[in-house]
Amino acid sequence: MRLFRQDILSAQPAKLYRAWMAEFRTPFFRSYMVNDPALLKRVLNERPDDFPKSDRVGAGLRPLLGNSVFLTNGAVWKRQRRIIDPAFEGGRLRDTFPAMWAAGEAANARLAGKAGGAPVEIEEETSHAAADVIFRTLFSIPIDHDIAARVFREFRAYQREQPILNLRAFIAGPRWMPRFYSRETRRTAKVIRGLIGELTEARLREIEAGTAPDDLATKIMTTTDPQTGDRFDLAEMIDQVAIFFLAGHETSASALAWALYLLATHPEWQDRLAEEAQGLTPEFSAVSRLRVARDVFREALRLYPPVPMMVRETTCPEEFRGRAVKTGSQVVLSPWHLHRHERMWDDPDGFDPARWGTENGKTCMRDAYMPFSAGPRVCTGAGFAMVEGPLLLAMILREFRVTPVEGRVPVPVAHLTVRAADGIWLRLDRRGAESGR
Ligand code: HEM
Repeated sequence: MRLFRQDILSAQPAKLYRAWMAEFRTPFFRSYMVNDPALLKRVLNERPDDFPKSDRVGAGLRPLLGNSVFLTNGAVWKRQRRIIDPAFEGGRLRDTFPAMWAAGEAANARLAGKAGGAPVEIEEETSHAAADVIFRTLFSIPIDHDIAARVFREFRAYQREQPILNLRAFIAGPRWMPRFYSRETRRTAKVIRGLIGELTEARLREIEAGTAPDDLATKIMTTTDPQTGDRFDLAEMIDQVAIFFLAGHETSASALAWALYLLATHPEWQDRLAEEAQGLTPEFSAVSRLRVARDVFREALRLYPPVPMMVRETTCPEEFRGRAVKTGSQVVLSPWHLHRHERMWDDPDGFDPARWGTENGKTCMRDAYMPFSAGPRVCTGAGFAMVEGPLLLAMILREFRVTPVEGRVPVPVAHLTVRAADGIWLRLDRRGAESGR
């Protein structure tokens, strides 16, 4: 239990990076951290219905997310995925590209004002950029739009109040214990949902009038469930928009910030990426040629998985590696440990984007890599994020060089996603202008 009382990332003992499984006892239930690929497969791919999402983890997010697809289980969740998934299919990704490109250009314009000056807190910049991508792709509005800017601001306040990996998730009391949210958490959740409600309602009217832009929100709000023929109503759509905004910008922002830090500390890779980026053109097909950027982004997702742990619950007695596991046990799936597992990865803690071309890298990609989770409950935005990440990296590094700031080594902590305790500070210079410093 003591383990979970400290910060989850720095408190992990070394043996968890070698163990196939670990058991934690609390007064009320047991938690099992699972690193064994066969067990992961059972939980995520083979019998996902028997391992629903644990309520305990979602608790901190419920005021904001309501009944959104991130928190639901069973039939409700399946219906929601049937309506949402078509919006993220391959062909639709191509349609979102111009919005992503525009967000990248806007990010570079903001960064240009800071280049050559004092060190920059880069998480703040990547959050801004990723939030811009989400608003542009979902609602066809940039982050400077009044409502978008207010959602973004309020959301930062919410994040400070409610970590996604609530420690109570693991050491919670009996189920009947009332959930406690601070007044501030409830206030910000209400404000954010109110603002999202305004956007969603306005969109509904545009759809009815036939004037709605062809973006993700319109697609999701006009898709009918093939099994029942119905659509999301307004309240359900607000829940889904809240999760798209949250899951879609926090995660990408975290991955981009860590990727930039890794490139700052590995200048040879930064140069390779910048060189590749010179050939970038504003076309969707150009993204598939960003091989260095993709390998770097993948490696950043391995070393700093934005969602460090996920928790499921057993619904019947199970046997895990010869051990009896009771109903109601918590199953902790940990990309954080799996991605650095010493028995599977060559040089597990090293930054080596070239690993994806090696035998070990390919095997581990299949068995020991799940930044987007796996199985039917895999991240809906995985394909989207794998376009957005490499594209933004290439766009930024085409124009700027990043270098580390002495004495500022970021320490990863689990907030809503894996962030640095005191931010990630980098120096930013225009490429070719460094000598002028
Ligand atoms: C680098 C970026 C991203 C990472 C690493 C990431 C990671 C994840 C992970 C690990 C999960 C599963 C969580 C769990 O099962 O407990 C998840 C779920 C989800 N993600 Fe992402 N995500 C990213 C970007 C996005 C984007 C861009 C969107 C939408 C635009 C998105 C939307 C969602 C949604 C809706 C879910 C819930 C799916 C479900 O439970 O059925 N994500 N994501």
